[in-house]
Amino acid sequence: MSVTQEQVLDVLRKVRSPRGVALPEAGVLSAISVSDGKVFFSINVDAQEARAWEDVRAQTEAAVRAIPGVASAMIALTAERKPGSAPPPRPAGGVPPASAHRHPPQPPGGSPMSRQAEIPGVAAVIAVASGKGGVGKSTTALNLALGLRDLGLRVGLLDADIYGPSVPRLTGIREKPELDATRKMIPIPRFGLSIMSIGFLVDEDTAMIWRGPMVMSAITQMLREVAWGTLDVLVVDMPPGTGDAQLTLAQNVPLKGAVIISTPQDLSLIDARRGLAMFKKVNVPVLGIIENMSYFQCPHCGTRSDIFGHGGARHEAERLGVPFLGEVPLHIAIRETSDAGNPVVVSEPDGPHAAIYRAIGAKVRDQLSSVIAAA
Ligand SMILES: Nc1ncnc2c1ncn2[C@@H]1O[C@H](COP(=O)(O)OP(=O)(O)OP(=O)(O)O)[C@@H](O)[C@H]1O
Ligand SMILES: [Mg+2]
Repeated sequence: MSVTQEQVLDVLRKVRSPRGVALPEAGVLSAISVSDGKVFFSINVDAQEARAWEDVRAQTEAAVRAIPGVASAMIALTAERKPGSAPPPRPAGGVPPASAHRHPPQPPGGSPMSRQAEIPGVAAVIAVASGKGGVGKSTTALNLALGLRDLGLRVGLLDADIYGPSVPRLTGIREKPELDATRKMIPIPRFGLSIMSIGFLVDEDTAMIWRGPMVMSAITQMLREVAWGTLDVLVVDMPPGTGDAQLTLAQNVPLKGAVIISTPQDLSLIDARRGLAMFKKVNVPVLGIIENMSYFQCPHCGTRSDIFGHGGARHEAERLGVPFLGEVPLHIAIRETSDAGNPVVVSEPDGPHAAIYRAIGAKVRDQLSSVIAAA
């Protein structure tokens, strides 16, 4: 028996907004996606009222789950960016605004062991992380994934940056994932990678506010309810920062290692150090540090300028005893190709940047060789 949108709307009529209006009349619902028993939609509210809506979101999810034939329901609470207003601030340090919890949010159900369970068919899950936002984490995650692909590995990319998924933009993917016969989402194949992002399911212009356990449930679904197939490496683009959400993620995803992205500036390095400490705390080996925007390379004459006093990350890695994986220049080709959805490793495969990402990929692969070879 297949579930219909009308059935979903029927149950939503019984759920009331904080102001007592039936949900479908409250003007907050996105399009409702119902596919093979999986229901997904978002409730878009004013950022100021988000707290009051949290209960409504939970009730809604419970009500939808109770519809006979619904296999899973994911209802996101989102705060819409108002035209002309500043984008809603990202949670400081990556901590979701309402996670005024004293403890990191706990994922629903399961023992610590089961939460850490391997993903069948995936030899190694690795995190690409940064202590702070905007250091080029997503750009590096994608190009590193492509570098690993060029080494002959089967590679997937999971955009777990639920606060600001940028993989749809970086890859130009606009389609939504389909479901397979076992009702798992099929990752979108692009550039020889298997790619999944929360951004495929919700509008990219919608800033997302995720609260408490939702962070893990969203990421768990993307990790475990996706038909990844057989992969040597699954690269996870983590949310930036080292707050509760990131820590919970690092604890709950079966990571074989983490790669930290930093820029050469002192401030970014301090954050990178926090990232290292976080992975250490949860016993995830740090595979190394990449210095992104390491030096400026003039697109016209190729001259290199160390405008940020480059080399900071290399020294930091030495000081902390973790591998230094390489330096990526600040180059307009990297930005332009990223923003055009045609990453530099794909658009200029014989260029110098692709070579850098492949060299970094080789160092990562070598560190994972025991797990990958066993796969
Ligand atoms: N090496 C580079 N050279 C030039 N531009 C770069 C480089 N790395 C990243 N960028 C650009 O910097 C911007 C931020 O990069 P990106 O989105 O990858 O960062 P991020 O750390 O994932 O950010 P966020 O915290 O928002 O997720 C993008 O416009 C990207 O194209
Ligand atoms: Mg990003």
